[in-house]
Amino acid sequence: MDFNTPINRKQTGSVKWDMMGELFGDEECLPMWVADMDFQNAQSVKDALNQLIDQTILGYDFPKDSLFESIINWQADFHGMDITKEAILFSPGVLPSISSIIQAFTNPKDGVLIHDPVYGAFSDMVLKNDRHIIRSPLLIEDHRYVMDYEDMEKQLKNQSVKLFILCNPHNPGGRVWTREELKKVIDLCIKHNVLIISDEIHSDLVFSEHTCVSAVTIDERYKDWVITLHSATKTFNLAGIKASFLIIYNEELRHKTNQSLEKTQSHTINSFAMCATEAAFNTARDWHKALLVQLDHNRQLVKTFLISNSLMFLIWCRKQRTFFGLMLLA
Ligand SMILES: Cc1ncc(COP(=O)(O)O)c(C=O)c1O
Repeated sequence: MDFNTPINRKQTGSVKWDMMGELFGDEECLPMWVADMDFQNAQSVKDALNQLIDQTILGYDFPKDSLFESIINWQADFHGMDITKEAILFSPGVLPSISSIIQAFTNPKDGVLIHDPVYGAFSDMVLKNDRHIIRSPLLIEDHRYVMDYEDMEKQLKNQSVKLFILCNPHNPGGRVWTREELKKVIDLCIKHNVLIISDEIHSDLVFSEHTCVSAVTIDERYKDWVITLHSATKTFNLAGIKASFLIIYNEELRHKTNQSLEKTQSHTINSFAMCATEAAFNTARDWHKALLVQLDHNRQLVKTFLISNSLMFLIWCRKQRTFFGLMLLA
């Protein structure tokens, strides 16, 4: 596994590298804006994809039992989840899933609650579906984000909120919500009859001092209230394959979600997506382990650099009006 040889991705059609000029007006600055790593993919995943091309006719494929098993085993081993094949649906991405769930469980102008800040595309999905965004600001305590339960309850009560989109771990704040925090927020939603999406796409990229708790593993009751969204794409740097899966224990919720995905034919994923997901979960566990060591090392490098250049960095943060630097230094 080589995480250290720089790979030139410029002029490859990479959104991250080749859209810097268009998006930020500067083609030369370092792209640190999208969750797309510059590490080479796991060899076993590339081998599986090569084999697919060499040995198969690329016709319509359905998800084989072996794909379901790879997901079931991964979720059991890494997230303590107990799932059956029936609970799993597919879609080309977490965002298409969010959009379909919004359409299935809310009506135009209904409120959808999100944290502020949170991954920007959540609000895009809400607005593009003509729903009303309700934001609950996160607070900063001890240099890290925490939820404001009082504010959340006020919003849940007053704003005809039908859905809450949770990001766990939190992007961009990096918080891995604790069991207690999750329990509090999910109980609040249940009290006010609000369905929860738990976007856990980053749950495999967590450093050893934290444990990412999957919301549905906390309490049996939550299985009727929480739709879990996940994917191999962030963990294994495979965003281009366009694949994700949904875990929905409750039959009625699952049926309604599937109907909504079907409306836009978003309930299937392509042959490369199925192949790469299965290969990643089954054969790239060593790559994932080594990746976490490398990311931890990189994190320490950034921290050391920032501390030794802290004055300049704090001036820069002030100019950018960002708390990012302060949180990293904490
Ligand atoms: C929290 C979060 N959810 C969803 C996505 C996008 O997922 P997908 O490409 O599967 O739609 C991202 C991408 O960065 C993300 O950070």
